[in-house]
Amino acid sequence: MARVIKLVLLLTSLYASQISAFVIESFIGGAIISSSLYAAPKIYCQFTECCRGKWIAPKITGLQSSLQRRVFGQHLVTETVLKAVTGHLKNKSPNKALALSFNGWTGSGKNFVSKIIAEHIFRKGMDSNFVHQIIATHDYPHQSDVEYYKRQLRKLVAGSVSKCSRSLFIFDEMDKMPIGLIDILKPYLDHYPDVGKIDYRQSIFIFLSNTGGHLINNAVLTHWKEGKKREDLKIKHMDKVINLGEFNNKGSGFWHSSLIEKNLMDYFIPFMPLERAHIKMCAKADLEQKGHPITELVLNNVADELLYFPDDLKVFSQSGCKKISSKVDYVMG
Ligand SMILES: Nc1ncnc2c1ncn2[C@@H]1O[C@H](COP(=O)(O)OP(=O)(O)OP(=O)(O)O)[C@@H](O)[C@H]1O
Ligand SMILES: [Mg+2]
Repeated sequence: MARVIKLVLLLTSLYASQISAFVIESFIGGAIISSSLYAAPKIYCQFTECCRGKWIAPKITGLQSSLQRRVFGQHLVTETVLKAVTGHLKNKSPNKALALSFNGWTGSGKNFVSKIIAEHIFRKGMDSNFVHQIIATHDYPHQSDVEYYKRQLRKLVAGSVSKCSRSLFIFDEMDKMPIGLIDILKPYLDHYPDVGKIDYRQSIFIFLSNTGGHLINNAVLTHWKEGKKREDLKIKHMDKVINLGEFNNKGSGFWHSSLIEKNLMDYFIPFMPLERAHIKMCAKADLEQKGHPITELVLNNVADELLYFPDDLKVFSQSGCKKISSKVDYVMG
C-alpha cells in the first residue's frame, strides 16, 4: 500500500513539474514574442525611415540659424518663413495645413529655402519619402491631361499624408502648372478635421513661382532709389505690392484658383532681387564649399561675369545667384 502511495505521489509531482515547466516556458515564450512584437518596429525604424523618432524631429534653432547664415539678402523671407513654419510645427493641433507661396525673381532662393526647411524637419531632407517636389514641366507637362494629373496628385497627397501626417509638398514652377490642377488641393488646405478619414492639418504645402516678381522688383528698386536701406522694407509694404490680381493672370497656374479666392494661402513670401553684394556672398559660400582661397579680386571677377538690371543703374542680378557655381568654376578654372 505504501508503495502505491509513493508511486502516486511521484507521478503527481512529475505531472505538476511538467505543468509548471510548461507554464514557465509559455510565460517566457509569450514575453519574448510580445516583446519582439513591440521591439520589431523600433528596430525596423532604426534603419528605415519612419514617420516618427529621429526621422522627423523638427530642429527649430537649426532652421533659424541656417536661414540667417545661409540665405543672403532676404530678411523678409527669413523672418516670415521662420515664424510661419515654427508656429505650425509647435502647434499640436493646427486648424489647417500650412500653405506658403514663395514669390519672386529667378535665382533669389525659393528652391534653396524650401530645401533648408525640408532639411530641418526631415532627417533625410529632400530625400525623405514624406517630402515631395512636384515640378510642373516635368510631372504635369500637358494641359490636355489635366484630369489624369488630378487623379495622380490626389493619390500622391492622400498616400503620403496617410503614411505621415507631417508630409511636405513643394510645387515648383507654379507658373507652368496646368490650369485647374492645383484646385484639387482645396479640401486638403481647408479647415476640415479630416478628409476621407485622413487629417491633413499637420502637412505643409509650398508653392514656388515668379508670379509678382516684376512688382516686387519695382518696389525694391523704388526703395533703393530713395536711398533707403533694404532691411527697412517691411512685409506689410510688400504684402500690398504682391497684387492678388497677379495670381489671376492666365499664365500663373493659380488662375481662378480656389486656393487664392478662398484665402487658403497662409503667407505670400516675397523674394527680393539680389544685388551685387549678395552675388559676392553667394560666390564666397561657393568658393568656401569647393575649398578655394577667397580674395576680393576673385569675388569681383565672379560678380563681373553676371548681367545686371535695370540697364541704366545695374543694381540687381538678372539671374540672381543661380549661375554662381558655374561662374566660380569658370573664374577659378
Ligand atoms: N538668397 C540667397 N542666398 C544664398 N544663396 C542663394 C540665394 N538665392 C539663390 N541662392 C543660390 O543660388 C542657387 C539657385 O537658387 P534657387 O534655385 O533657390 O532660385 P529660385 O528662386 O528657385 O529661382 P527660379 O525662379 O529660377 O526657380 C541656390 O541653390 C543657392 O545656392
Ligand atoms: Mg526655382
